[in-house]
Amino acid sequence: MSLILDDFLITGRIFEEYVAFFDLDVTAMKNMRVLDCPSGASSFIAEAKARGIKAQGCDILYCYDRDALRVQGEMSIEKIYADTSWMADNNFEFYHSIENHRQYRTSALELFCSDYNTADYWFAELPKLPFRNDSFDLVLSSHLLFVYDDRLDEAFHEASIIEMLRVGQEVRIFPLVDYKNSRMNEKENLSSLVYKIAKKFGGEIVKVDFEFQSGAEYMLRIKQKHLD
Ligand SMILES: C[S@@+](CC[C@H](N)C(=O)[O-])C[C@H]1O[C@@H](n2cnc3c(N)ncnc32)[C@H](O)[C@@H]1O
Repeated sequence: MSLILDDFLITGRIFEEYVAFFDLDVTAMKNMRVLDCPSGASSFIAEAKARGIKAQGCDILYCYDRDALRVQGEMSIEKIYADTSWMADNNFEFYHSIENHRQYRTSALELFCSDYNTADYWFAELPKLPFRNDSFDLVLSSHLLFVYDDRLDEAFHEASIIEMLRVGQEVRIFPLVDYKNSRMNEKENLSSLVYKIAKKFGGEIVKVDFEFQSGAEYMLRIKQKHLD
């Protein structure tokens, strides 16, 4: 594999952010089998397990060991917050301040590192996943599909969603803006690919109680039963 760690900015979100992105009912999730895909340096798995959820995660970066990921994660945080002008138009209702936003990233990295190396972190390169059919009740996918449509084409999106629906009964994806809108922070609509995919897979576009990027307060929910 030709993955060069230095080329990646490693970031992760915390459990509370996932709850908001995906409108999660945490009480109902006890004992649920949940896949975080991709999980990056997110602390969702560690925090979910502490709440009785059977969480696992996968990422292309998990061919690296904890120390390498920690170093790259710390460098990524330094780089991201060296210039925060890109956040000028964001909505801080959830985070309250840039300092707090940074603190969430730092906490996520710390918790991720303390939990990594357990059996719950799998190397995977979408659109292939190393799990049997129906291994999970729920698959959560944040900040990969749609937002990187500048480099991930439609075929990749479709193949990845088919694969997630193979391993999980339900897939939730957030956010639904495309690369340009996620960068320009325009009050624009969702990626046109979202509508196409939602129609193809019988997915439902759901408004959630989280809007950091303007117009990005939607997630896509697709249930396995809608597949032909
Ligand atoms: C922006 S991070 C999001 C991580 C996490 N879901 C979150 O919201 O904090 C995107 C992640 O996608 C992973 N990734 C990119 N391409 C991938 C692929 N083909 N298969 C698996 N993971 C991939 C990257 O390594 C990175 O960790």
